[in-house]
Amino acid sequence: MALFAEQPKTSHAQLFLAPMQGLIDAQMRDLLTRIGGYDGCVTEFVRITHTVHHRTTWIKYMPELAQANKTQAGTPVIVQLLGSDAVNIARNALNVIKLGAKQIDLNFGCPAPTVNQHAGGAILLRTPKLIEEIVRTVRKTIPENVILSAKMRLGYEDKTQAIACAQAIEQGGAQLLTVHARTKLEGYKPPAHWEWIARIKNNISIPVVANGDVFTLADYQNIRMISECKHVMLGRGAVQRPDLARQIAAYNNGNLIDPMPWQEIVELIAEFFKICCLRAQASNKYPIARLKQWLAMLKLTYPEAATLFNTIRTLTTINEISTIINQHAKA
Ligand SMILES: Cc1cc2nc3c(=O)[nH]c(=O)nc-3n(C[C@H](O)[C@H](O)[C@H](O)COP(=O)(O)O)c2cc1C
Repeated sequence: MALFAEQPKTSHAQLFLAPMQGLIDAQMRDLLTRIGGYDGCVTEFVRITHTVHHRTTWIKYMPELAQANKTQAGTPVIVQLLGSDAVNIARNALNVIKLGAKQIDLNFGCPAPTVNQHAGGAILLRTPKLIEEIVRTVRKTIPENVILSAKMRLGYEDKTQAIACAQAIEQGGAQLLTVHARTKLEGYKPPAHWEWIARIKNNISIPVVANGDVFTLADYQNIRMISECKHVMLGRGAVQRPDLARQIAAYNNGNLIDPMPWQEIVELIAEFFKICCLRAQASNKYPIARLKQWLAMLKLTYPEAATLFNTIRTLTTINEISTIINQHAKA
């Protein structure tokens, strides 16, 4: 399956798995892309300050660099950079490209106070000129065949500069823009303002990917209609409903498929726990924390996940938890 930006004029409606720091790491990308439906996924943001990261840092965020930038299922992975120092972002971009990255995404939307205090993420939406300078500097520095994309919110405190920011991203030379349809101040509060994505799309000529609050196939149909975008990115919905992309891809091919039953979800949970344990090696903390985090999200779709969560809540060892998951898998 071709990565969107390798064929910017493609007519096929593409689906992307969102960058989600602390939630969609390489383990989750691996699992979700195996279920199917995705054309590409994006790493958690890699923060750029004054240094140029070494290979170990890049591999930590994007282990897929060692497997031709693809998840095990073959879905292309895009690396996302966050910062405000244009020259240093460009240097880092070049560095990760030397390690094999094929597409760079720039973050203009992170709402985290620590990031915003250091002039990164959503705070840049107050200064479209700086956004343009960052995009242009990176574009000029990296090889022509490397795709440059960006992801933005609608603004910091309000939406007055939304179109100016999108135009700055286009003018700077990005080839693709994802829009999360909220301001920083709106956080994750519903609703996402999909009609604003259409306004942006109608004021720039690069392709736009619509993002925000797609939790079901019906949401997907609505965001497509209201945003007027063909391409969509899934974030929390992808984690709460692991087969959402597969359902959407089937729908786009003219088929309706049954949602994944809980029994199959338990098998995925067992697999996820196993890959997190392998990654953590001796530590119990990482796999247990990731499992609880996922169950807390899955229970919004599957009530059975709440039962499993309550059963493992106080357990502290991998063996105890694996035994419980296996019992649920056999139930
Ligand atoms: C826990 C969490 C972490 C996120 N991390 C990132 C990130 O690293 N980079 C980024 O561009 N957006 C990040 N986002 C925003 C998502 O990519 C997405 O734009 C947002 O969640 C809206 O989409 P959704 O409603 O489908 O979840 C994050 C969101 C959440 C909830």
